[in-house]
Amino acid sequence: MNLGGAVKVNKCAVITFIGIVLFIIYVLSATSSTIESLKKSSKNEVNLRKLIIGLILAAKSGGNQVIKISNEPDFGGVKTKGKTQEGVNDYITLADVNSHCQIAYSLWHIFPNLNLISEEDVQKKNCPTDLDFFDLDPSVLGNVQLPDIHVPAQDLTLWIDPLDATKEFTEKLFQYVSVMICVADKKGEAIAGVVYFPFSKRLYWSWRGHGVSENLANIKADLDDNVQNPIAIVSLSHAGKVKDLAKSMLGEKTSIIGAAGSGYKIVQVLEGNATIYLHNTRIKKWDLCAGNALINSVGGRMVTLKRDKISYSANSDHLVEDGLLVEINNHVVNKT
Ligand SMILES: *[C@@H]1O[C@H](CO)[C@@H](O)[C@H](O)[C@H]1NC(C)=O
Repeated sequence: MNLGGAVKVNKCAVITFIGIVLFIIYVLSATSSTIESLKKSSKNEVNLRKLIIGLILAAKSGGNQVIKISNEPDFGGVKTKGKTQEGVNDYITLADVNSHCQIAYSLWHIFPNLNLISEEDVQKKNCPTDLDFFDLDPSVLGNVQLPDIHVPAQDLTLWIDPLDATKEFTEKLFQYVSVMICVADKKGEAIAGVVYFPFSKRLYWSWRGHGVSENLANIKADLDDNVQNPIAIVSLSHAGKVKDLAKSMLGEKTSIIGAAGSGYKIVQVLEGNATIYLHNTRIKKWDLCAGNALINSVGGRMVTLKRDKISYSANSDHLVEDGLLVEINNHVVNKT
């Protein structure tokens, strides 16, 4: 009996000892892997709250470059990149270049591992020397509180339009001009976006599930709402054909507004000044991604005319071939 008791005690001691050893091994390995992941995070992880602040400041400082060039004779020299599918000249000015430089290099300065896809592609040596390398000042969020969420930089793709509506910029139709920056996640969904109008200083931003700029806070999609006097906003350069399409969707009473800039047209839908934004030719994804993030954040829809969602993943085509339909109210998507 005594012997059995002693064996029992020894068994207990052995089990406890093994337990302690295993626990120590666990703690050590957990600590070293924490240190590993801390090391990694400082290099490859992005704090999305900080990134949102960075996007807002980058869009504003890009807009400042646009304003600077708007005061120069001939906008620093207007060039054309060829013609669009509609036969309209595809212009580029020093404002497009300098705004791209400002946005790309200020963001890379803080978030060096970000993958950026921009309408322009400019080497640093061709950039202006007065780039603004801002600090991440959280006051640009106003009263909105955002959480710190860390994601690997390689899961994100940023789509940048440093100057939307370049042609109208050269015609001094400055109200249409915007600067757009967007974040897509690894599924290719637009999760955050900033649209900034440098000449009116209006700025809209959203981060899916976490916050929107104060000017979007009271906008909520009402997808069952039937609009009595629908308004379709369409591109100035090809209003004709889209008109018929708009009437077939929304009825004969539909009025048509011609406007430029996809950023501008998307914001008109958000603000209730247009029922729907329609486009029936090809369009580039940097024209859409930021606006898509804003539209998603209020519960609206942005789809192609075939009713497909748009993927913004890094390896996807830069062109949307099947046109565009944007709405926050009238439920056209489900009706037609
Ligand atoms: C929407 O229309 C109203 C009234 O015409 C105007 O004051 C407002 O500036 C428009 N919103 C935008 C974003 O242009």
